[in-house]
Amino acid sequence: MGAPSERPERPGKIVILTGAGVSAESGLGTFRDKGGVWTKYDLNEVATPDGFARDPAKVHDFYNARRANAAGARPNAAHGALARLQAEYPGEVVLITQNVDALHEAAGARAIHMHGRLDEACCAACGAVWTAPLQMFPQDPCPECGAQETRPNIVWFGEIPQELDTIALHLEGADLFAAIGTSGQVYPAAGFVEEATRWGARTVELNLEPSDLARLFDEQIGGPASESVPAWVDRLLG
Ligand code: OAD
Repeated sequence: MGAPSERPERPGKIVILTGAGVSAESGLGTFRDKGGVWTKYDLNEVATPDGFARDPAKVHDFYNARRANAAGARPNAAHGALARLQAEYPGEVVLITQNVDALHEAAGARAIHMHGRLDEACCAACGAVWTAPLQMFPQDPCPECGAQETRPNIVWFGEIPQELDTIALHLEGADLFAAIGTSGQVYPAAGFVEEATRWGARTVELNLEPSDLARLFDEQIGGPASESVPAWVDRLLG
C-alpha cells in the first residue's frame, strides 16, 4: 500500500464513521457532552447485560423513551449530505454508524449499525430480530420461539459490536476515512482511524471541536455537522 500522499486526488473508496454528533441537530442528545445521556443515566444500569439482568423493566423504560424520541426526529442536513454522497460519488461510500437511530436511512442512505438499532428487537434465546414496537416490556414473547427473553437490538457495553468482520474489510480497502461527530472514547470504533491509517487511507475528522483523537487524523474540519458535512460533501463531489 502506498503512503497517503501517493493516493489519487479523488479517493476510490470512502469509509465514514458517524457518532451521536451527526444526530445532535435532529434533537437527539449526545452521550458525553454537557447534559448528555451519560450525565443523566448510569450506563452500568441501562446499557450493560448485567444491568438488564438486574432490572429489565428499567432498561426497557430507558430504551422506550429513546425510541419515542428517535421516532419523532427528522434527518438534518448532515444526514442528507451523506446520503447524497453515497448516491452520487463515483466510487464506493461505506457508512458505518455507532448511532442506534434510523436517521441515515430516513435520509436515503444505507448504513452499518455497529451498535444495533433502536427500531429493532431481538431474542436473547434464539437470536431472532424483528421490528420493535414503540414500547417493549420484559414479558414480551419472541415471535419466533416464544421465549420471554426479548431485548432491544442494541449492543451494550461488554458486548461485541455487530458486523466487525465486514467493517475490517472496508477499513482495509479505504482510501479516505472520515469520522463525524464522535468523541472517539468507545472502542473498537475509536480504533478505526489508526486501522485505516495503517492500510494507507487519508483521514479526516469532522467534529464540533477536535476530539481526544484529533492528532491521529490528517485533517480537521470544525463546526456543526449540519454545516461542515454538506460543505465537505460538495468538495468531494467537485
Ligand atoms: P459522544 O457523546 O461520546 O460524542 C459526541 C461527539 O459529537 C462529541 O465529540 C461532540 O463534540 C460532537 N458533537 C456534538 N454536537 C455536534 C454537532 N452538532 N456537529 C458535530 N459534532 C458534534 O457520542 P459517540 O462518540 O457517538 O454506545 O459515542 C459512542 C458510543 O458511546 C455510542 O454509540 C454509545 C455511547 O455509549 C453505546 O451505547 C454502546
